[in-house]
Amino acid sequence: MAPVAEDGSTTIRQARLADARAIGRIEVETWRSTYAGMLPDRVLLNMSEQRQTASWAGFLRHRPGDVYVAERGAAAPRIRGFGNCGPQRDPGFGFAGEVYTLYVAPDAQGAGLGRQLLLALFTRLLHCGHRSALIWVVRANPARFFYERLGGKLVLHRSIPLGGEPVEAVGYGWRDLAALLDREAQSRAGGSSPG
Ligand SMILES: CC(C)(COP(=O)(O)OP(=O)(O)OC[C@H]1O[C@@H](n2cnc3c(N)ncnc32)[C@H](O)[C@@H]1OP(=O)(O)O)[C@@H](O)C(=O)NCCC(=O)NCCS
Repeated sequence: MAPVAEDGSTTIRQARLADARAIGRIEVETWRSTYAGMLPDRVLLNMSEQRQTASWAGFLRHRPGDVYVAERGAAAPRIRGFGNCGPQRDPGFGFAGEVYTLYVAPDAQGAGLGRQLLLALFTRLLHCGHRSALIWVVRANPARFFYERLGGKLVLHRSIPLGGEPVEAVGYGWRDLAALLDREAQSRAGGSSPG
């Protein structure tokens, strides 16, 4: 299982079962910092690293190739972000694949891990035959502008259950993952960000 990206201090790779604990921990930490004020406090307070770890261990056992982690630090690498993907859960929306989650730990945000993880997940979807992708984001979450920056188009609105509560969400779509990955590769080769 070779890493898909490595730049000295950052490695993006498929997750292993042993990563479930780090993933569960970051999920709880990131939910609490991201969704404070968007989701009821009780939902955030009731989250448990232990339950999330068990849930990720279950996912990793069944679909090990569909989870990616970002590790930072050359001497003692630590997982600082993760995401997972697979077939679109509701094929009625017209997108083949879906990115189910993407979270970067608060102390590691803004350093390019989110972009690298998203591109690794898109590459995985393409590899599995899914040429387009959808991501749901809480409408009030400024992370939606990250998806716009990465070429996503706002295509859908709906209410989704999050932590057991219905919340307003928006769907960002990418119709042509291969074209996006080409553009990103070219912009990296040219040393600039896509506009
Ligand atoms: C959203 C998230 C995944 C982005 O990851 P990140 O590592 O912080 O983002 P990156 O450093 O890779 O940013 C890539 C680009 O998007 C831009 N960007 C990142 N977050 C942004 C935001 N909230 N608004 C506007 N632009 C943003 C960056 O400036 C960068 O632009 P560039 O092309 O000029 O370099 C991460 O911040 C996160 O996990 N946030 C909290 C949890 C969350 O909301 N996850 C999404 C749930 S659907």
